[in-house]
Amino acid sequence: MQAKKIEPERLERQQGIAQAVFEQIQDKNKTYYIETYGCQMNVRDSETIAGLLQGMGYSPSATKEKADVILFNTCCVRDHAEKRLLANIGALKERKEEDPELIIGICGCMMQQADVSRKVMRRFPFVNFVFGTNVLWRLPELMLGALDGERLILTEEEGFAVCEGLPAHRSNPFSAFVNITFGCDNFCSYCIVPYVRGRERSRELSEVVAEVSSLADRGITEITLLGQNVNSYGKGMGVDFADLLHDVNAVDGIRRIRYMSSHPKDLSPRLMAAIAQNDKVCHHMHLPVQSGSTAILERMNRRYTREGYLQLVEDLRRTVPDIELTTDVIVGFPGETDRDFEDTLSLMDEVGYAAAFTFKYSPRKGTRAAEMEDQIPEAIKKERLKALNELQAKKTAENNQKYLGHRGEVLVEGFDRRQETILFGKLDTFKMVYFPGDEGLLGTYQTVQVTECARNSLLGRME
Ligand code: 5AD
Ligand code: SF4
Repeated sequence: MQAKKIEPERLERQQGIAQAVFEQIQDKNKTYYIETYGCQMNVRDSETIAGLLQGMGYSPSATKEKADVILFNTCCVRDHAEKRLLANIGALKERKEEDPELIIGICGCMMQQADVSRKVMRRFPFVNFVFGTNVLWRLPELMLGALDGERLILTEEEGFAVCEGLPAHRSNPFSAFVNITFGCDNFCSYCIVPYVRGRERSRELSEVVAEVSSLADRGITEITLLGQNVNSYGKGMGVDFADLLHDVNAVDGIRRIRYMSSHPKDLSPRLMAAIAQNDKVCHHMHLPVQSGSTAILERMNRRYTREGYLQLVEDLRRTVPDIELTTDVIVGFPGETDRDFEDTLSLMDEVGYAAAFTFKYSPRKGTRAAEMEDQIPEAIKKERLKALNELQAKKTAENNQKYLGHRGEVLVEGFDRRQETILFGKLDTFKMVYFPGDEGLLGTYQTVQVTECARNSLLGRME
């Protein structure tokens, strides 16, 4: 479905309110701090929130302790995030008592759940406002309300329209996230995302290309196209993800195109061909498998079988021979037997992922899986997770070995945390390489030769 756009008059009204906030706080050196949990969509949303706050006259604060505005952008995909968030909000009580002007706001997926946002407002009377994932553009209204001493909850927005043209304060000067779809229609039975981010909506192709071009004009050379399932981009609009890759590939100044995540059920031969044919599209795909057992996949409502997935991997590797795959796996889904789990292990062994994100199943209220019988005891989930991680560590090491002596180009992204003379960057295949070099190389592309393998990364030297 094509994303409906927020009407320009409504956006203009917010811009007027932003100006009113600006007039109240200008010359007061007010700062903000955003704490982001969860996935890349949240990271991207936080960049928009930062852009909006800067438009209202706030500047970034290096620490949470010194900030005048503190925002938590939350995630609710798994359980522990909620407990951590509540503790972090609670810890601000004293600060708010000392500084009643401190503004505290909570947003993101967890707040899109009405019962949770009400609980947060009730339990923490010092929180100024709560808002959901589809109303970022109304932040000026929330900020002005907070300055006037109001407490607001803003989560519902009819039709989940998308707001184009919002400012963003991007965290990385060389590489940028670009949303292409919002929401998800897949309703995997364990997943809360379709409930908190709404139905799948695609941005217009021309809007995406225009954003990528303007990023390229600002010197950004690598982009990551974001969606819960990028493969279904453009459904009902007469275009698809392959078309989008083709058009973005034509943007001058862009050197690398990444994308995530891909749902196996929508990985078509046409898309595989587009990856092979468009030279800027990186040879890495994040292709979550979730389980290696067809019975569990069916209960997860993933709409592919073990055999179907393995066939896709084979086809993909035939079409794009050096492509690296990464994945997500859940252990301990309701009803998962030892046999099912062994199927997951054997699939992981067979595919040989470059890396895997592994999770214990976490029941989410309101999803179908949370109501299923045969929930798996925590001890078994833990045991399975450990076994899975051990296998993946072995596979990652094996995968790294194959890069010994390999020459390739990396985009230099930063310094090693421990050693300032060591830079790091990623190969086209998403493999991280560490190598000696200096600050002047940040943001450039360098050819490196891999000389050694560390546990999760590669070591090399520049040519
Ligand atoms: N429990 C555990 N893992 C989950 N994921 C999504 N929902 C759950 C859940 N309820 C994982 C999936 C998904 C990744 C982003 O998070 O593996 O691909
Ligand atoms: Fe959740 Fe499945 Fe949608 Fe991914 S594809 S966001 S796992 S419902």
